[in-house]
Amino acid sequence: MVYFISGLGADERVFQFLKLPGVEKRFIKWVNPFQRESLSSYCKKLIPQIDTQKEIILIGISFGGIIAQELAKLIPCKKIIIISSVKSRAEFNWQLKLVSNLQLHRIVPLWFLQMSNKLTANYYFDVKDKAEAKLLQQIIKDTDPTFLIWAIDRIMNWHEYNHHQSIIHIHGSIDKIFPIKNIQNFIEIPNGGHFMIVNKVDQLEPLIFDQLKKIKMDSANTDILHIDDVKLLVDDFYDKVRNSVLLSPIFNDVIGNRWILHLEKMYGFWQTLLLETPAYSGSPFLKHANLPIEKEHFDTWISLFNETVDSHFTGVKADEAKWRAARMSEMFQYKLEYYRNNPAKPLI
Ligand code: HEM
Repeated sequence: MVYFISGLGADERVFQFLKLPGVEKRFIKWVNPFQRESLSSYCKKLIPQIDTQKEIILIGISFGGIIAQELAKLIPCKKIIIISSVKSRAEFNWQLKLVSNLQLHRIVPLWFLQMSNKLTANYYFDVKDKAEAKLLQQIIKDTDPTFLIWAIDRIMNWHEYNHHQSIIHIHGSIDKIFPIKNIQNFIEIPNGGHFMIVNKVDQLEPLIFDQLKKIKMDSANTDILHIDDVKLLVDDFYDKVRNSVLLSPIFNDVIGNRWILHLEKMYGFWQTLLLETPAYSGSPFLKHANLPIEKEHFDTWISLFNETVDSHFTGVKADEAKWRAARMSEMFQYKLEYYRNNPAKPLI
């Protein structure tokens, strides 16, 4: 199922020109945020709109792209497509970084925000004609001011370091809100502005179709359903680890001639997580607490793991395996940083 998340305050009207015949679409509706509510807590409130029993593809525009990336931390997603958005604060231009660092947005009164929005929107969004200008003004008019203030504050305080493993970023070459020169790893739409979901739909549609087709082609694989699937995943993954110049010395130093035992343990670990059969109990972090591992080791681990999953499996469980690995890798890195800077010893 493909879920669409619109930009700041906008609703599904911005997707009206994107036809995508044959694609099952759902539009995520905004709900009311609490004052200063975290993005993660806000995204939890959106989850009831998503059928988590089926494969999930998220397509987010601008602020919707940020929400898509946050949602993907909470639920396993097959793919995220972000359009006219950013993957981290590093992709902000210097003006946005300045506002964010000094928290200037917090001292701008609401009336000024709304007024300047009305006056400058056509310029910043690269609106092409009167009909588009009308649509944009209507969306601005309908935007709940409390939501607008909350969302701007959340964007300005967004801290994102690890990208989703299957993220596709489509960006317009003349986007004035998030200028393209700061954006990395993207598919470019020539002459596309921040409103290109409305006025460059003829170029966006085939691109999105292609991405969705790729997912369908991968679907020739089956999901991780039995213990034999788990064994195949674990065996193949650790073969790759043992061939990795970066990872193999670390594993071999600790595991030595206990590889069979390690593989057995890892069958149990993944069986417990994915097949809901209790076969593992332990405190994984403790085993990693003193290893000489940094972000580059985790990035390599994750990319080998995702590659292994994708080469054999597709489906809800396959997405869950990649999602769980990414969450654990993130958690290990936070904890490692914490304990390296604090004298306390980890208990779990
Ligand atoms: C830089 C990346 C990583 C390295 C170098 C690494 C290395 C190791 C090593 C050497 C062991 C064996 C420890 C021992 O037997 O004493 C181990 C165990 C384990 N690792 Fe990792 N690991 C990494 C990332 C991860 C990630 C992202 C996960 C999340 C799925 C994970 C899950 C586990 C589990 C569940 C065990 C078994 C723990 C136990 O014995 O109870 N590792 N890892």
